[in-house]
Amino acid sequence: YNKPYIRIVEVGPRDGLQNEPVNIPTEVKINFINKLSETGLKTIEVTSFVSPKWVPQMSDNVEVYSGIKKKDFVSYPVLVPNIKGLESAIDVGVREIAVFASASEGFSRKNTNCSRQQGINRIKEVIDIAKQKSLKIRGYISCVVGCPYDGHIQSSEVTKVTEALLSHGCYEISLGDTIGVGTKITIEAMIKDVLRVTTADKLAIHCHDTYGQALANICTALEYNIKVIDSSASGLGGCPYARGATGNVATEDLVYMLEGMGAETGVDLKKLIKAGRYISDFIKKPSGSKVNSALYSK
Ligand code: HMG
Ligand code: MG
Repeated sequence: YNKPYIRIVEVGPRDGLQNEPVNIPTEVKINFINKLSETGLKTIEVTSFVSPKWVPQMSDNVEVYSGIKKKDFVSYPVLVPNIKGLESAIDVGVREIAVFASASEGFSRKNTNCSRQQGINRIKEVIDIAKQKSLKIRGYISCVVGCPYDGHIQSSEVTKVTEALLSHGCYEISLGDTIGVGTKITIEAMIKDVLRVTTADKLAIHCHDTYGQALANICTALEYNIKVIDSSASGLGGCPYARGATGNVATEDLVYMLEGMGAETGVDLKKLIKAGRYISDFIKKPSGSKVNSALYSK
């Protein structure tokens, strides 16, 4: 009997830290990522090559990417918004990138200073070059059920963007509930609609826990055979262009839940708890993970 394997995409070093107001030294980011690399996680999004004017915390992207110890069989994607970011990422030897679009018009403008369609066109330019370099390309869609500017989002908007990103060449689409407003009903309706245009093996779910619904919404995604889940150690995070958006679902809580359900994650929870605690202690915040708080011992 093989336990079902769920791949966790750890986004703490990027989604988790991008919005931290205090400057986190590069060395601390590198230590954090190196600790995560030892836990058995297979995908760790390590930084973003976005404009430092927009997200200053990620401006040490080159140093972070070059400084981390890269393990075989672990992928270290970086977030890329445009060709300029792609070129810097290629220069430091990145093998996998993540591009990002929005299901909503308002968030696209606030987060990337362009309309949703212009954003998708820009992504196509990035992907065309990335493909020539044989990079792997993951796609994010933000605001899949709700937007901080436009309110409720129709799932037909999500299916349109999903189709565009898949046709341009993303191997996987991560459906992002950026502001964590989704519930069982809205997430389920959205997933059902997206499954009209693609299959579950092309999808991932990316839940922020702003309203405490993340694990419940992930269970809904699992019911629809989505087997890739984004999360952030210690539940770090928030998006600078989505006010009030708190952290992603905590990786520790996710691992605990999945293993408890009989799934396999390949992640060593004890090591993960130490990695999560290392970074939450550094930013002087209590861990955003309930499992971390329950199980941590020095
Ligand atoms: P813009 O201001 O329209 O672009 O920003 P620009 O081309 O006019 O550039 C402005 C300045 O930034 C210029 O510098 C560029 O050179 C520079 P200046 O000439 O003024 O000195 N610049 C760059 N520098 C380094 N690397 C680059 C780069 N690009 C421009 N790549 C842009 C447009 C898209 C660049 C900007 O809006 C941006 O960087 N946005 C990213 C915002 C961001 O990172 N948000 C968080 C990530 S998304 C997220 O968290 C959601 C997600 O987790 C899923 C979910 O939860 O739903 C993925
Ligand atoms: Mg996010």
